[in-house]
Amino acid sequence: MSKIVIYWSSTGNTESIANKIAGDLGVEAKALAETSVDEVKNYDVIVFGSPAMGAEELDEDETRPFFEELLPQIGDKKLALFGSYGWGGGEWLDSWEEEATNGGANVVAKLAVMGDADAVDADAYDAFIAALN
Ligand SMILES: Cc1cc2nc3c(=O)[nH]c(=O)nc-3n(C[C@H](O)[C@H](O)[C@H](O)COP(=O)(O)O)c2cc1C
Repeated sequence: MSKIVIYWSSTGNTESIANKIAGDLGVEAKALAETSVDEVKNYDVIVFGSPAMGAEELDEDETRPFFEELLPQIGDKKLALFGSYGWGGGEWLDSWEEEATNGGANVVAKLAVMGDADAVDADAYDAFIAALN
């Protein structure tokens, strides 16, 4: 199965998690600005990262437009969601998953990390990676 890791990150925390995941999957992590919906929609497994912004929301400038364009085109793919947060306990990711599921996506895994790649819980991380296969 072809896999791609894509992310948006304001201060590098989600980027560091993206790079860790991509390294373990043997693929490259791409910032949203380095790819396109037309490219991403061709992969079997799409691993999409974006941090908690706003008030438990997605970044509105880059992530949301990309996600809203992608969502209707990936119902037959696997989608995994991840990202970094500061204080909200991962609420933004639950909302994101709900939105994706309501939009017809097959969400197979999610991983919320308080901080950067060094703060990843090992068991949660292993389960996340295992769900991508
Ligand atoms: C404008 C702004 C809004 C934020 N809103 C939230 C929030 O609602 N909940 C939360 O847990 N963290 C929030 N954070 C904290 C970020 O999610 C956190 O710093 C994260 O590590 C940033 O990841 P990044 O380095 O990939 O951008 C916010 C940060 C900023 C700058």
